[in-house]
Amino acid sequence: MKLFDVYPLNDITITKAKGSYVWDDKGDQYLDMYGGHAVISIGHTHPHYVERITEQIKKVGFYSNSIKIPLQAELSEKLGRVSGKNDYQLFLCNSGAEANENALKLASFYNGRKKIIAFSKSFHGRTSLAVAATDNKAIVAPVNETDNVIFLPFNDIDALEKTFGENGSEISSVIVEGIQGVGGIRVADTEFLQAIRRLCDKHNAVFIADGVQCGYGRTGKFFSHDYAGVDADIYSMAKGMGNGFPVAGILISPKFQPKHGMLGTTFGGNHLACAAALAVLEVMEEENLMKNAAETGEYIINELKAIPVLQNVRGKGLIIGFDVPGELKDMRKNLLWNHKIFTGEAKPNVIRLLPSLALRKKDADEFLEAVMEEVTVGRPSS
Ligand SMILES: Cc1ncc(COP(=O)(O)O)c(C=O)c1O
Repeated sequence: MKLFDVYPLNDITITKAKGSYVWDDKGDQYLDMYGGHAVISIGHTHPHYVERITEQIKKVGFYSNSIKIPLQAELSEKLGRVSGKNDYQLFLCNSGAEANENALKLASFYNGRKKIIAFSKSFHGRTSLAVAATDNKAIVAPVNETDNVIFLPFNDIDALEKTFGENGSEISSVIVEGIQGVGGIRVADTEFLQAIRRLCDKHNAVFIADGVQCGYGRTGKFFSHDYAGVDADIYSMAKGMGNGFPVAGILISPKFQPKHGMLGTTFGGNHLACAAALAVLEVMEEENLMKNAAETGEYIINELKAIPVLQNVRGKGLIIGFDVPGELKDMRKNLLWNHKIFTGEAKPNVIRLLPSLALRKKDADEFLEAVMEEVTVGRPSS
């Protein structure tokens, strides 16, 4: 049987990983400034993480949500404390799309409405509602098309006010990334997030903060939305939550009343997933990784800003983007093949950095030196 060929692949096979580095089957070492797409939060194969998962699977790896799983309570207690959302409730699932799907559904159960506001260049996942709220026609199948999603320009408070003014009583939720990832590292303005809060309160709509890529400590605060000083009603989380183990969830404000059967999943919150998520939070706390993300990120951003040819250096903590000019269009490819550094991209010309929150200054310097070399030499395409 062949694999269903949906991913364009680099011809690299990774066989070993540690911290911010991975090695291929030929023994070549790569610096991971991509974090396997923002997933590696505490560093590859962290010893505490490996040990906690190993010990857990020796005891019990999975049993269904029909029995008590004390690890879930342990996780929700710790997550409440680390995120600062102590009074929220936790629903566990398996992926970012599923987290957003449940958030949108819960909002609709809550206020009985159907309309969703989403924004230009948003990405919320590939399940039916999440993809309908994603601003990319190419990945929306006909069956996912719906009139229930209203797309507005990102960071445009006037458009938001006008839409609420006209359709306020029909709007169920507003879903917004604190920093758009796939959309090219576009940071939501503080005033914009505050306006969403104000209008949702006024019209009894639900504010959903998609923290799948920009959340979980990556910006130096637990959710990048926290920089705006307002709370969302629901936060979605995934990627960094399990450092590679598939685990996701939503944090749900106390105003939502649960009902048996309202949401559910077979795999969500299983023993192994909880062990992985707990190990991540333990390491984040123990090694002060949010602070490291803030400081190392600021260092990288300032150093990149000092390179005049790179345009619009932006981001917060360790979610960083910059535009490469036409003459350096092969920079990402060259970073990979000439310097053995993984980075991310956003079309057409954005380099995206999403490394582990444990990235050290010396790793950042290795990356910055490679960028400088690329900029200076202006290498022709390989
Ligand atoms: C902001 C955001 N939301 C949701 C998702 C979907 O997550 P998943 O691929 O785990 O379903 C992604 C994935 O890239 C994302 O960046």
